[in-house]
Amino acid sequence: MTADGGAKVAVIGAGTMGRGIAQVAAMAGHEAVLSDVDEGQLERAMAAIRAALDKGVSLGKVEAAAREAALTRLSTATGLPDAVEGAQLVVEAVPESMALKRSVLAEIEAAAPEEAILATNTSSLSVTEMGADLRRPGRFLGLHFFNPVHIMALVEVVRAKETEASTVEQALAFVHGVGKEPIVVADSPGFASSRLGIVLGLEAIRMVEAGVASAKDIDKAMVLGYRHPMGPLRLTDLVGLDVRLGIAHYLHESLDSEAFRPPRLLERMVDEGRLGRKSGGGFYEWGNER
Ligand SMILES: NC(=O)c1ccc[n+]([C@@H]2O[C@H](COP(=O)([O-])OP(=O)(O)OC[C@H]3O[C@@H](n4cnc5c(N)ncnc54)[C@H](O)[C@@H]3O)[C@@H](O)[C@H]2O)c1
Repeated sequence: MTADGGAKVAVIGAGTMGRGIAQVAAMAGHEAVLSDVDEGQLERAMAAIRAALDKGVSLGKVEAAAREAALTRLSTATGLPDAVEGAQLVVEAVPESMALKRSVLAEIEAAAPEEAILATNTSSLSVTEMGADLRRPGRFLGLHFFNPVHIMALVEVVRAKETEASTVEQALAFVHGVGKEPIVVADSPGFASSRLGIVLGLEAIRMVEAGVASAKDIDKAMVLGYRHPMGPLRLTDLVGLDVRLGIAHYLHESLDSEAFRPPRLLERMVDEGRLGRKSGGGFYEWGNER
């Protein structure tokens, strides 16, 4: 696979992440095929991609001709075998379930070319375990994109136990080609991003709990003192307190570290339904901004 487009990239799962991955692949000159079990999702995905590209054009960030060219390189397929036929890269972005992902990957491997690279966009599951039943685990790795895909620059390239060096090299070329910055990480819980991000968020919650400072001032410390674009508590509100609690439980167990023990305040707020922006309130009141 080359860094300058021209490959066939199939994306399985046309939700929040899959549609974004297909969009950036098509923008970079690849032929991108989106597939989903739900036809309605494919229609919504195409509408969302068109809207994102239109916004790019109206903001002067995307040339009108580039928008047109990207859309001609994008297509959809309901059947997975059709989508992955002749693909050099297949990225799965189906929901975060080990059993579902393993079965989708088996289906992909059965229909994709022998030399195709298979990738998972999992944000937390073990890539090594996910690839355990594959016949060619050396061609499998994690490509962890961030949301929204067309804006966020980082991609974690996750090297599983069996991933071959040439697979990592080709994946890095693809990531550079779609204009993103890769980092290579070993297959370890939370990879690099979530592991560090969560620890900061949990400690900030413990500080609120201990009365060290208000949520607003703790956030201010990180924004003004450390130049973070957003404080850890505001970010927790945006991600969802329930989502962060789930990740904290998982990392606490899998890494066996007290740094990830869920703070009581977080558990209590989730019990009370204070989940952050989506519920109208968390560490901040969100009102209509929901
Ligand atoms: N949403 C995020 O912020 C984010 C960020 C990074 C990584 N991730 C990871 O990306 C993956 C996808 O997350 P998402 O938020 O896009 O999920 P989503 O629920 O928005 O989309 C998943 C899509 O997969 C489809 N699907 C389900 N079963 C399928 C199957 N068997 N074959 C084909 N399609 C199928 C669903 O119809 C749905 O359209 C997850 O592993 C998630 O952990 C999500």
